[in-house]
Amino acid sequence: MTDTTTPAAGANAPADTSAKAWSGRFSEPVSDLVKRYTASVSFDQRMAAQDIRGSLAHAKMLARQGIIGARDLADIERGMAQIAGEIERGEFAWNLDDEDVHLNIEKRLTALVGDAGKRLHTGRSRNDQVATDIRLWLRDAIDRILALIAEFQARLLDVAETHAGTPMPGFTHLQVAQPVTFGHHLMAYFEMSRRDAERFADCRRRVNRLPLGAAALAGTSYPIDREFVAAELGFDEVCFNSLDAVSDRDFAIEFCSASALLMTHLSRLSEELILWMSPRVGFIDLADRFCTGSSIMPQKKNPDVPELVRGKTGRVNGSLVALLTLMKGQPLAYNKDNQEDKEPLFDTADTVIDTLRIYADMIGGIKVKAEAMRGALSQGYATATDLADYLVKKGLPFRDAHEAVALAVRAAEVKGCDLPQFTLDELRIAMAHVPGAAERLADDVFGVLTVEGSLASRRHVGGTAPEQVRAAVARARLGRG
Ligand code: ARG
Repeated sequence: MTDTTTPAAGANAPADTSAKAWSGRFSEPVSDLVKRYTASVSFDQRMAAQDIRGSLAHAKMLARQGIIGARDLADIERGMAQIAGEIERGEFAWNLDDEDVHLNIEKRLTALVGDAGKRLHTGRSRNDQVATDIRLWLRDAIDRILALIAEFQARLLDVAETHAGTPMPGFTHLQVAQPVTFGHHLMAYFEMSRRDAERFADCRRRVNRLPLGAAALAGTSYPIDREFVAAELGFDEVCFNSLDAVSDRDFAIEFCSASALLMTHLSRLSEELILWMSPRVGFIDLADRFCTGSSIMPQKKNPDVPELVRGKTGRVNGSLVALLTLMKGQPLAYNKDNQEDKEPLFDTADTVIDTLRIYADMIGGIKVKAEAMRGALSQGYATATDLADYLVKKGLPFRDAHEAVALAVRAAEVKGCDLPQFTLDELRIAMAHVPGAAERLADDVFGVLTVEGSLASRRHVGGTAPEQVRAAVARARLGRG
């Protein structure tokens, strides 16, 4: 059947520059809705620089292998330089008819340099081309993220060092548990970010492998040199199976997984910042530039930025699930489903990058209210464990010591004071029901009941003693964790 209204229809149809690159075998054009539905150019044009880079490496290899001529290569290089300039200056006319970033650029190249442009696609397919572009794009994103994590860590370490000896209550179940220092608390987040950085660096190793050469799915009959292209593009190695190279997006899933964990960690810190900034707690203040006011309540200063970090963690988690679901059950090799990988991936990278940029600044400018932290410590019997440990060290079995201290806490509640405010006699009376407890108490007990005594006693690696927190900061600065 010949449809004369379709320029591309029929073998003898005149060449039409508006026809799609693949429309030769079709008898009718796609509807506008289908065109819009299937096109990716609106979002994959973000990979234009990577697409050009990949094409240049491919063309160079084709010329070296004698698959295209030296003149073709020169034309392609000239055309691509012009296209890169047009894109940079915002002059490039992206066209929905040309579906995606790859066909848009190829079409423009052909318009600029003629046959050489048509030869560029020799020995490759959009399937290996797109997989290469994404990997190049993601590699850059990971490098950016690693640099931003390092910046965030540097700011965190500065605050942790300043407050290596600033006591605050450590919580379990959001109840005052034992004294820690604010620096120690922040160093917990440093450890999380260190693992995050490790995960991104590890993911990068698997991102940094070259799909080009896989062509559509089975490889190509041209005498290509994949190692050359890999070296040109800075890939560590080539993907070793052509079907796998064009079809799997596990590297993107890994990236989203590392991102989801990083955001999860930052959502926890955000939750704490929000809590600490609440006037009920009042441990910190955030600089005004990270907060907003209320349009109705003039007194409000809301921690919008940490709240949004907490909220945006949801969309990053969502992208991870989207990509896992996209890949689940897909038969080999390439399927158009994979075009759906880009938006979640881009959005995840954008979210992580913006979040880290904001966080470095926000944490560096945090105002710590040390008196409020100390005040909270005197309300929760934070040194009760230290008192029990004291009795144990004097020979009382731990369970008896636990019981004796519980009685002392109950007496403190009745009296409305904290443990260090008892006299020695009062403490002895409070523990009288536990045999062997009272007589083990001596004046030196007050050394462990103070916050400073409690902190200083936890002086092993990983403990909260100020000297250990300083050591942790120093280790971290040396990159030794
Ligand atoms: N825009 C496509 C994508 O993002 C490029 C690959 C298209 N390949 C194909 N055979 N339709 O996946």
